[in-house]
Amino acid sequence: MELLAAGWLTQAIHAAAALGVADELSRGPLHGPELARRVGADPDALRRLLRLLISHGIFTQRRDGRYALTAPARALCRDSPASLRDAALFFGSATHRAHWTHVVDAVRTGDPVWPQVDGAPFFEYIRTDRQFGDLFDRAMTSIGSLTTESLFAAYDFSRFDAIVDVGGGQGAMLVEILTRVPATRGVLFDLPDVAATAAERFAAAGLDGRVEVATGSFFDAVPAGGDAYLLKHIVHDWPDERAEAILRTVRGAMAPSARLIIVEIVLPQGNRPHPGKYIDLEMLINSGGRERTAADYRHLLTRSGFAVERIVDTVSPESVIEARPV
Ligand SMILES: C[S@@+](CC[C@H](N)C(=O)[O-])C[C@H]1O[C@@H](n2cnc3c(N)ncnc32)[C@H](O)[C@@H]1O
Repeated sequence: MELLAAGWLTQAIHAAAALGVADELSRGPLHGPELARRVGADPDALRRLLRLLISHGIFTQRRDGRYALTAPARALCRDSPASLRDAALFFGSATHRAHWTHVVDAVRTGDPVWPQVDGAPFFEYIRTDRQFGDLFDRAMTSIGSLTTESLFAAYDFSRFDAIVDVGGGQGAMLVEILTRVPATRGVLFDLPDVAATAAERFAAAGLDGRVEVATGSFFDAVPAGGDAYLLKHIVHDWPDERAEAILRTVRGAMAPSARLIIVEIVLPQGNRPHPGKYIDLEMLINSGGRERTAADYRHLLTRSGFAVERIVDTVSPESVIEARPV
C-alpha cells in the first residue's frame, strides 16, 4: 500500500512547495496556526499535510510544538544552494501528473505520450505552453544544482579554453564553470526562448564579456570553435537515432583535438534500486528518450563518430563521459 500511495507523497511535497512552507520556516520555527496564516492554508489541513511529510523526514515538530526545517525540507526553500523547490513544483504539476497517467500507453507502444495527448512532441509543446515550459526550465536548473559540487569535485574543466554548452538551458552550469575557471570562455547554445533567460543570468553573474549566447536547433548546427562540447542531460532526452543525429551535428562542428563531455546518469548493470530507473521512464513518457548503461553509451558514441576516452563517476548518480572525434 505504501508503494501504491507513493505518488500521493509526491503531491504532498508539491503542496508544501507550492504553499512556500519551507520558505516561511527558514526564518525560524513556527506554531501551526501562525504557519497556516502565513502560507494561506487551513490550519487543520496543514497539520495533516505536515504529519505525513514529517513521517518521511521532511520537516520536524519540536517539543514545544513548533514546526521546523530538516535537511530534506531545506531543499524545498527557494534560496537553498541545492534547491529542489522547482523540481517539486514540476513533478507535482497537473500537466506532469496528467502525462504520467498515460504511462501504460507508453509501455504498450514504446512511444512518448506527449504527441498523442497534446498533438506535439514534448520539446515543441513546452515552447507553446510557456508557463509549463518555464516551470520545466526552472526544474532542470533546480535538479542540476543538486549535482554541481560533485561534478566539479570529479572533473577538471580548467583544461579547456572555450566550452560550448549544447542545450545549456538557463545557463546555470556555464555560470558555475566560468566562475570557477576564470580563464575559460563559454558559448551557450539552446532554443531561442530558453537561451534568452540564460543571457539574463550571465549578465547578473557579471560574465557578459566571457560568454556568448547562440540559438538554434542541435539537429541543424551548433557553434564551431569550442575545444570542449558539453552535453548535460541532453542525450538521455532522445531515442538512439535522434541522439545519434545530435551527436553527429556536434561532431561536425568539432576540431579533431576538441573533446565531447556528456554528463548523464550511467545506469548500473543488474536490478538494484537506482534513481536512473525512475528517470528512464520519465524520458520514455516525455520524449521517447532513455537512460543508458556504459555499454549503451559506448555503442551510441562509436556509431556517431566518437571514441570514449574515459567515464568518470561522481559521488552523485551522474557520470562524465569524455569522448574524442574519430
Ligand atoms: C533536460 S534539458 C537540459 C538543460 C541543461 N543542459 C541542464 O543540464 O540543466 C534539455 C535542454 O535541451 C534543449 N533543447 C531541446 N531541443 C533542442 C533543440 N532542438 N536544439 C537545441 N536545444 C534543444 C531544451 O531547451 C533544454 O534546455
